[in-house]
Amino acid sequence: MSTTGQATTEAGASGLIRVPRQIIFGAGQRRGLGAVTAALGTNALVCTDARMAGAPEFLEIRENLRAAGVAVHVFSAVEAELPAGSIADCVDEVAALGIDVVLGVGGGSCIDHAKVVSALLVHGGKPGDYYGEFKIPGPSLPVVAVPTTAGTGSEVTPVAVIADPDREMKVGISSPHLIPHTAVVDPELTYTCPRSLSAHAAADALSHCVEAFTAIRRPPDPALSTERVFVGKSLLTDSYALSGIELIGRSIVAACSGGDDRSARAELHLGALYGGLALGTAGTAAAHALQYPIGALTHTPHGAGVGALLPYVMAYNLPARTAEFAAVASALRCPLDSDATVAPGAADSGSAAESGRARAAVRRVAELLGAVGIPRDLAELGLSEDRLDWVAERGMSAARLVDNNPRPLDSGEMGRILRAAFDGDLDGLLG
Ligand SMILES: NC(=O)c1ccc[n+]([C@@H]2O[C@H](COP(=O)([O-])OP(=O)(O)OC[C@H]3O[C@@H](n4cnc5c(N)ncnc54)[C@H](O)[C@@H]3O)[C@@H](O)[C@H]2O)c1
Repeated sequence: MSTTGQATTEAGASGLIRVPRQIIFGAGQRRGLGAVTAALGTNALVCTDARMAGAPEFLEIRENLRAAGVAVHVFSAVEAELPAGSIADCVDEVAALGIDVVLGVGGGSCIDHAKVVSALLVHGGKPGDYYGEFKIPGPSLPVVAVPTTAGTGSEVTPVAVIADPDREMKVGISSPHLIPHTAVVDPELTYTCPRSLSAHAAADALSHCVEAFTAIRRPPDPALSTERVFVGKSLLTDSYALSGIELIGRSIVAACSGGDDRSARAELHLGALYGGLALGTAGTAAAHALQYPIGALTHTPHGAGVGALLPYVMAYNLPARTAEFAAVASALRCPLDSDATVAPGAADSGSAAESGRARAAVRRVAELLGAVGIPRDLAELGLSEDRLDWVAERGMSAARLVDNNPRPLDSGEMGRILRAAFDGDLDGLLG
């Protein structure tokens, strides 16, 4: 690890990243959607929700597609958190229309909807046939993803997260065939996000960057890319993750203040995009494993839950990822405070200083998330104390995420993280 936190290319280090064919970023870039889409198809399905369908920006996008010679069919009944039923309804509605390109315009729910529908229109069946990893047998229709929240990074990831009424917790479809062909990331589309939505989305994005940057590092086995969708940290995802932390760290408070800081909105959206690029191959870990059961119990937004958990998971993981967390402190411009100061000539001053920096990073993440209104503990999030054991047990069942955590976990350790997160006792976990 270099002083800037960039992973060095020591012998044996390896990298893997899977990304869309095209990523277009910048204020106003949605105005190119007509030409971008026309290069992929002439008969477009646009998946969005009722709010976006009535927004002036959407009418402009629709007109832009028409002007480029693209026929447009709009499905505007996507629901937040993506209940499986709306996906089936959409497929039934458009199956006979000869759709050849699919747009997802909205938050993560609309983009995930577009990704799954594009697969079902080619391969048939229902979402449940593809739960898990590598179940989609081949390419889907090309997807153009246009996010209106700065958070999930779904516009570049190989996963869609669905709420299936037959399951207690949300479930994922993960496949490289779900990666959108093109992402058009226009920060202007996030200007209408209210404060709390901005904060939840930003907390999600920060957790993607941190969990991807500090995930397990697997040995460079040439079979890794075909055996796992999410492979752990690597040289290629580390750069995005760390740059994303820096961008989000310096923009999150201004971008979530409800004000009109356009440059903060742009930095936050770029940071969220980088989070998607990092998590899409590295994957996430314990904060996500624990959010799923907590979200099922509390019905709180995903970003609020991962944000509330993140500092505690970082504190638990610190001994296994001290160098990385010290790099996070630099990315977040943490001052060299007492935590990080070492007496001149002290024995082992290098590692003591690094450990101090790492702890400062955990505290700074907690401070930033608290500043934008993310609950500081799980009691504030609305979790009942008597459900902690159940959450620990269900969190452990998310094997893909538990295996990706850098420090080994069992239900006792999950319980320890949850206890501290419920009590708001970050110092207790930091030791
Ligand atoms: N596929 C992935 O890689 C990935 C990663 C993380 C989360 N997710 C999933 O994404 C979903 C969450 O997505 P999200 O946080 O973007 O929210 P969302 O798409 O669920 O939308 C939440 C609400 O925000 C509104 N909204 C969206 N954009 C807005 C805007 N610009 N102005 C005003 N209101 C706006 C929507 O209409 C909706 O009511 C969850 O289902 C989560 O599981 C997916």
